[in-house]
Amino acid sequence: MTKSCDQTSSDSPRSTGADSSVSCLLPSAEATAKLARQLATQLHPGDCLLLEGPIGAGKTHFARSLIQSLMVQPEDVPSPTFTLVQTYDVPCGELWHADLYRLSALEEIEELGLFEAFDDAICLIEWPDRLAELTPSHALRLELSLDQTEEDCRHLTLTWSDAKWQNRMNEIANDKP
Ligand SMILES: Nc1ncnc2c1ncn2[C@@H]1O[C@H](COP(=O)(O)OP(=O)(O)OP(=O)(O)O)[C@@H](O)[C@H]1O
Ligand SMILES: [Mg+2]
Repeated sequence: MTKSCDQTSSDSPRSTGADSSVSCLLPSAEATAKLARQLATQLHPGDCLLLEGPIGAGKTHFARSLIQSLMVQPEDVPSPTFTLVQTYDVPCGELWHADLYRLSALEEIEELGLFEAFDDAICLIEWPDRLAELTPSHALRLELSLDQTEEDCRHLTLTWSDAKWQNRMNEIANDKP
């Protein structure tokens, strides 16, 4: 992450009750891809990333960059807009990429097998607001927003309450360019 990151915590960072957050400026699509690759190195089965933000914010770009960095054999990573879910085999296990924008009912999530995946796989979820009260509490939230003036600039806020993310955020922040 760049020096433009600001970290805040509403309680001790080790606490599981309060949210901690860090904000970054991502001045280009490549900056977003780089952060996705850095985060990829910190992920384990059972981790869940919630990718929030409006249409065109860069949720799929982030997920695609992350997934491709974990692939042993390069493969296309299509947006799961219509399939809802795409799954991939990566060295540490299964990775699920979901786009819940077109989800019609919460029962569909169960049919997709997403709840089991929350326990066993790395899950990247676009439009996670569709999960409502079924949102996993151990997830890392990434909220992307567009810049008012710079076309290729994005603002990102990462938020977590599970203490496991704190060390990982420190690792990324200390990662040399
Ligand atoms: N800094 C940036 N970070 C991420 N994407 C960027 C950035 N600058 C430009 N882009 C471009 O913005 C577009 C984002 O499209 P993307 O499909 O990732 O959006 P999305 O958030 O997944 O939208 P949707 O809600 O429709 O799924 C891509 O073409 C990407 O190259
Ligand atoms: Mg998308």
